[in-house]
Parts: sequence; structure tokens; C-alpha cells
Amino acid sequence: MNNEKRSGFTGKIGFVLAAAGSAVGLGNIWRFPYLAAKYGGGIFLLVYILLAVTFGFTLMIAEIALGRKTGLSAIGAFKSLNKKYSFLGYLAALIPAIILPYYSVIGGWVTKYLYEFIAGGAGETAKDAFFGGFISQTGEPVMWFMIFLGVTALIVLCGVEKGIEKVSKFMMPVLVVLSMFIAIYSVCMPGAMAGVKYYIMPDFSKFSATTVLAAMGQLFYSMSLAMGIMITYGSYMKKEVSLESSVTQIELFDTGIAFLAGLMIIPAVFVFSGGTPEALGKGPSLMFVTLPKVFESMAGGTYIGILFFLLVLLAALTSSISLMETVVSILCDKLKIGRKLSCLIVFLISVALGLLSSLGYGIWAEVKIIGLQFLDFFDFISNSVLMPIVAFFTCIFVGYVIKPKAIADEVELSGKFKRKALFTFVIKYLAPVCIVLILVSSVLDAFGIFKI
Ligand code: TRP
Repeated sequence: MNNEKRSGFTGKIGFVLAAAGSAVGLGNIWRFPYLAAKYGGGIFLLVYILLAVTFGFTLMIAEIALGRKTGLSAIGAFKSLNKKYSFLGYLAALIPAIILPYYSVIGGWVTKYLYEFIAGGAGETAKDAFFGGFISQTGEPVMWFMIFLGVTALIVLCGVEKGIEKVSKFMMPVLVVLSMFIAIYSVCMPGAMAGVKYYIMPDFSKFSATTVLAAMGQLFYSMSLAMGIMITYGSYMKKEVSLESSVTQIELFDTGIAFLAGLMIIPAVFVFSGGTPEALGKGPSLMFVTLPKVFESMAGGTYIGILFFLLVLLAALTSSISLMETVVSILCDKLKIGRKLSCLIVFLISVALGLLSSLGYGIWAEVKIIGLQFLDFFDFISNSVLMPIVAFFTCIFVGYVIKPKAIADEVELSGKFKRKALFTFVIKYLAPVCIVLILVSSVLDAFGIFKI
């Protein structure tokens, strides 16, 4: 369509890094390790990797190709190919709006930790009670959340994404090197081997449908799939850049950082708290409780900690900026309003929803929806319910409405499609069936109707 008018990525490296920049964020460093710890270690890792090379590969190729084929972002792309499916674009667009507020709450926690490390409070953060004490307060976590969200909004308002792209190109390699260094240090601590074993060796007795659902939700989240983002990225991609190998590289990058984050955190759980089920099942607080202890035990750990939290903060910011940008640009287009007003609306809605998530750990701890605190509830609704639904309909759309050949033709514009058979099989049969089974069992499980 209007391909000439869209500003494009210059080449393959630019495209891969930009997509990886969106993908790599708190999902990899904060969310992946706590899920892996909670859902059985090695078995979660194995299921995740299997899903990444089948589901993840298929969906990412489909989304990027849809974007490149139509030259449009999610809502327009589905609509232009089949009017009946425009609802899918809207549904996909709702997801970033749900994620942004609670993402910013976590981003606020990271900012607070960076501040503590700079201000000399690193030792305090390593104490067991520090994290729980911090998030259960009213004013402080809300303040850090507002700072994080405010900075995100300012950058989106000023539209300096170009600069951000440059920053993340430089930042990502540093993050990889630093993560490797911390992971090696963690693994070499006395007593860490039990943790490494737990993380790497699958224990099949820990396998259940919840493991698969959690891994699938994490896959969508981490790779920014099933929410229209990759469609938008694809619309900026040049026709001659190889789609298939770009997807492979983005996946390797994203999974590599998540794997390293697990290696930094899980062995340390064994060293400092023993590998007890309570220690492993800590959930969202795992990174914040464990890593400061690692830094404390390290010579020069305060400086490593500052650098680490700074990089995590920047990775989180690049992600929150693109989350917000997505919502803002949709509002601008659909409501025909200006950028400033649209930013303000998204900011205010996010403040309201984020407040629920933040106070849900403090004064509103008693308020629960289907047994979950607000933050966990928003996380559950977006990752375990909406994203599988969007992924399911995307598979139906590609598999039966426009047909896999339409995607394959797009991929083949830039070379051979080596995994075409795998792609066709997964998108038509394997993915839709599995997604429905897992979604149904998990929702029943959440409402306590049926325990797996
Ligand atoms: N993938 C990002 C992460 O791992 C989070 C994320 C989800 C995201 N959806 C997004 C980032 C959309 C940018 C745009 O942290």
C-alpha cells in the first residue's frame, strides 16, 4: 500500500535490533526467572524453548509478514485483508493498554533500586524484609511508579524514539556482556550447583498444563507477540530483508537474555534461601529479593549493581515507550485527536490502573479478584487470557481465511522459506488446538472449577 511513505528500517541489522529492543525488557529479566523458578525450573525452560521454536517462530513470522504485506499496523492490517476480522486488531490493541500501567509499577521498583544503590543503600536492599516493606507502603512505590510513567510519557510526547533506538543499539550489547558476567559469578558461588541443576535439568514429574500455559503466556509477553506490535514492526520492514532469518535472530536474542537472567537469579535463590518451594515460588518479587544479595556478596558489587539496575531501567524504558506509543497512536488515529491529548488520556488511564496495582500490595492487599492481587490479575488477564485469544484468532485468520500461502509468498519475496512445512502445520492445526485446550483448562483452574 503506502509503503513508500512509511519510514523504513535501513537494513536487516536495524530491523532485528529494533524488534529485539522491543522484545527485550522486564519480561526477560524480571518475569522469566520468577516463572521458571516457580514452575519447576528445567521443565519450564524445556517447554519454553520447545514453544519458542514452534509457536513463537510461527506467530512471529505470521505477524511480521502480515505487517510487511499490508504496510499497515494491526487494526488496518486485519481490516484490509478481511473486514470481518477488524475486531482482532482492536482486541490486540487493548493488550498494551493493560500491560503499560503495571509494567510501569515494576519499572518504578527498578528505579527505586537504582536510587538505593546510588545513594549507598545497597546493603539495606539485600535484607530479607526490605522489598516487602517497600512495596507495601503507600506513598513511595506510587511516587516511583509515577516517575517512571511520567518519564515514559514525556519521551513519547516529545517523540524522541529515534534517539532511543540509538541508545538501545549501544545498550543491548552491554546488557548481554554484563548479564554474562553476573551469571558466571552466580553460578560459581558455593552451593550454586543445586540451583543450576534445578534450572537446567527437566524434572518431568513437575509437568502440568499450567506449566505450558505459563510458558506460552511468557512467550507472547517476552516476544511482544499477539498484541499487534510485530505487525507494526513488519510494516516498516524492507521487502528484500530476509524474514525467516530475522525472526530466528530476534528469538535467539530474546531467549538468550531470558536464559541468562535465570542463570543469574535461580542459583542465587539456592545459595541464599535454600531451594525451598517458598523461596522458589516468590513470584514478582524474586529478582528484587535475590539480586541485591548477589551484589552484596560481590567485591565492588555496589558498582555492578548500579550498572545492572541502570541497564534494566533503560531496557524497561524502551519497552514502556513502545507500549505507550502503540496506545497513543491508535487513539490519535481512531478518535482523531492530537498527540498531546492522546498522551494525556493514556497517561491518566495508566495512572488509575497503575495505582490499583501498586496499592494492591499495600493498603488494598485484602482486595482480590479471582484470588489474585491487582497486579497479578492484570498480568493474568493480558498474558493468560487475552493474548491466547488473539493468538488463536490470528492462527485461524492466517490458516483458514487468507491461507498460509499468503504468508509464505510474502516470506519468499526475500529468499527461501526453509521451515514452511512446520509453519503451515503449526498455524493450521497444532497452535489452534493447543491454545484452546490450554486456555480453557487454565481459566477453569483460575476460577477453581477444575484443578489440573
Ligand atoms: N516484550 C517486552 C518485555 O519482555 C514487554 C512487552 C510486551 C512489550 N508487549 C510489548 C514491549 C509491546 C514493547 C511493546 O519486557
